[in-house]
Amino acid sequence: MKNKILVIGSGAREHAIVRALYRSPKEKEIYCLASNMNPGIAELCDKILIGNFNDPSFVVSHTKKVGATLAIIGPENPLANGVADALWDAGIKVVGPKKDLAQLETSKSFARDLLKEYNIPGGPKYQTFNSMEGVADFLKRLGNNYVVKYNGLAGGKGVKVSGDHLHSRSEALAYCQELVNNNGKFVIEEKFIGEEFSLMSFCDGNVLKHMPIVQDHKRAYDEDVGPNTGGMGAYSDANHSLPFLTDYDISQAQEINNKTVQAVKDKFGEGYKGILYGGFMSTANGVKLIEYNARLGDPEAINVLSLLESDFIEICTSITDGTLDKVDVRFSTKATVCKYAVPEGYPDNPIKGEPIDVSKIKNHYRLFYASVDFKETILVEAGSRTIAVVGIADTISEAETIAEKEVLSISGPLFHRTDIGTNAAIQKRIEHMKKLKRESI
Ligand code: AMP
Ligand code: GLY
Repeated sequence: MKNKILVIGSGAREHAIVRALYRSPKEKEIYCLASNMNPGIAELCDKILIGNFNDPSFVVSHTKKVGATLAIIGPENPLANGVADALWDAGIKVVGPKKDLAQLETSKSFARDLLKEYNIPGGPKYQTFNSMEGVADFLKRLGNNYVVKYNGLAGGKGVKVSGDHLHSRSEALAYCQELVNNNGKFVIEEKFIGEEFSLMSFCDGNVLKHMPIVQDHKRAYDEDVGPNTGGMGAYSDANHSLPFLTDYDISQAQEINNKTVQAVKDKFGEGYKGILYGGFMSTANGVKLIEYNARLGDPEAINVLSLLESDFIEICTSITDGTLDKVDVRFSTKATVCKYAVPEGYPDNPIKGEPIDVSKIKNHYRLFYASVDFKETILVEAGSRTIAVVGIADTISEAETIAEKEVLSISGPLFHRTDIGTNAAIQKRIEHMKKLKRESI
């Protein structure tokens, strides 16, 4: 039987998803419900439609119209709006958790409370607030190391970290007051010091199959400075670990993902079907959980799906059917470096509507379109992360050389981070971890 699949979303992550589906030897029709005209997705799909994919009833009617029996949800907003619930109710299988389970991402306090309730390791000291009562006392208790997080989805902009974004107790109090004034619930938690990494796991409700570890780069500029972004690029290593991690770090992160999936099943009596993305920090005191996402990361999906050797349609079907244990999930043992070209001025004042030219790119199979648009027939940047490229090689260093060359060959008013995956940047992270461990003895 032909597989008819609808992909929801139209960024570089979804371009990577569509590519992985397209590579499957199975007979298929691929559809996409998009927010913008992504030419890379359009080329591989049977049909791409621009429409409001955050509206559950519209998504259901479109899915039925194209005859898709499986939907894959890329971004977080449709998950938060219950698109997965509506599709399951209509008899359509979904990769992506239902609204209650997606709270792992959509509510910071839910994720923290769940870890505490089920004695899952890796949580910080934290408290949840919706007024200023007790805020000053709790900040005092945490000393200089605290993080204030708006409770809901904020596109990465709701989190402020002491030392980075909040430079004094009074700035912290002012930010909390701002959240209270906007009727916001928020979490204040202990700040972890270490190196971040992402562990994404396919999950069928019971069984998890883990993907290679990736490190994203959230800050806009080289040397990890500047405003937070959706992610400027990411790398992974040929051994599926990272140069500053131990095997024990990885087993701790896997255990936290595994236990969390069991906990949500116990809490809601229903399995988590989709991708669980754990954002972790390796610290001198072990692995800590920074946050959960209920979907593939962008750009991390580009790194890992580019390495996937197994049949992605089979993996997606097994996620929905609860048969992931029977599927061989294999990734090639290569290193990857992904870099995003973003508009000048991104993320605060991005240029929009200017032409970009990708004709000098050598390997179009390693290029992923994101926030682009067309002015008549001319490809233009649309204001957010524009185009990603990935280099794949035996070492991170070789992959970096490929990615850097390719990203430089894209012309237009764009910039990218030149340091992602370089030997110097990686050495710095290794030294940082060594120093933290030395100091803790
Ligand atoms: P989140 O949206 O929760 O991933 O937070 C965005 C970024 O804030 C993370 O990638 C971290 O760099 C930082 N962050 C969040 N929580 C913590 C924490 N408890 N300790 C240190 N950094 C954090
Ligand atoms: N790259 C981080 C995210 O997808 O949330």
